[in-house]
Amino acid sequence: MTWQATALTLFPDMFPGTLGHSLAGRALERGIWSVEARDMRDYGLGRHRVVDDTPFGGGAGMVMRPDVVASAIADIDLAGRPLVYPTPRGRRLMQADIRRYAAGPGVVVLCGRYEGVDERVLEASGAEQVSIGDYVLSGGEVAATVLLDACVRLLPGVMGSGESAVEESFSDGLLEYPLYTKPAQWDGRDVPEVLLSGHHAAIAKWRRAASETVTQARRPDLWAAYQAGTGQDISRTAGPRADADRLN
Ligand code: ADE
Repeated sequence: MTWQATALTLFPDMFPGTLGHSLAGRALERGIWSVEARDMRDYGLGRHRVVDDTPFGGGAGMVMRPDVVASAIADIDLAGRPLVYPTPRGRRLMQADIRRYAAGPGVVVLCGRYEGVDERVLEASGAEQVSIGDYVLSGGEVAATVLLDACVRLLPGVMGSGESAVEESFSDGLLEYPLYTKPAQWDGRDVPEVLLSGHHAAIAKWRRAASETVTQARRPDLWAAYQAGTGQDISRTAGPRADADRLN
């Protein structure tokens, strides 16, 4: 059964985009998931296929019309999939959301452009409004890509057993420990001795301590939650490479 993503967008060419490469791209080719980009312009009004208008009450920019967006949504078979609207006004997108989406039949992502989408159609459609971080992107497509990437890597058969094992091992709400590979000495810098020792218990202890140190220093919010025993499983599920990237 294919996990089905649908993107409602004014820029259908942006999909699959980066998701056509690497891990997600291979999974796409293998039919583990699919992505359909629906052009909302097709539902635009009149000869010029108008999709937006000026905001009531004044202000900068344009707002996507509710009637146009509603027509685009109505034309989709949701088939039990959540409708997700990425927006900086949304609640923070968490790994727990990603797990929930990945466990279902797929997602429909409404990608806003301009200043955003008329509030009424968001209410009427029951769209889940999620933010991928406290910064403003120029549209929802990149956020949708982030969301889909995070989902796809959790689908059964997408990652090799080695990679998924890593995910199982670290669900404690701490940031990842630092990673090293060959050469053992590079540019006057040594790999921590213990990692070359072959002592699995000592290595595990070192990694745990390094995780705690880095979490305390960089993410006091996660550290507090960890100490309170309410730690969320966030970064560990991102896989070792992604975590290292984020920490560097
Ligand atoms: N669209 C624009 N900025 C966004 C953000 N930070 N998160 C989700 N969607 C967005």
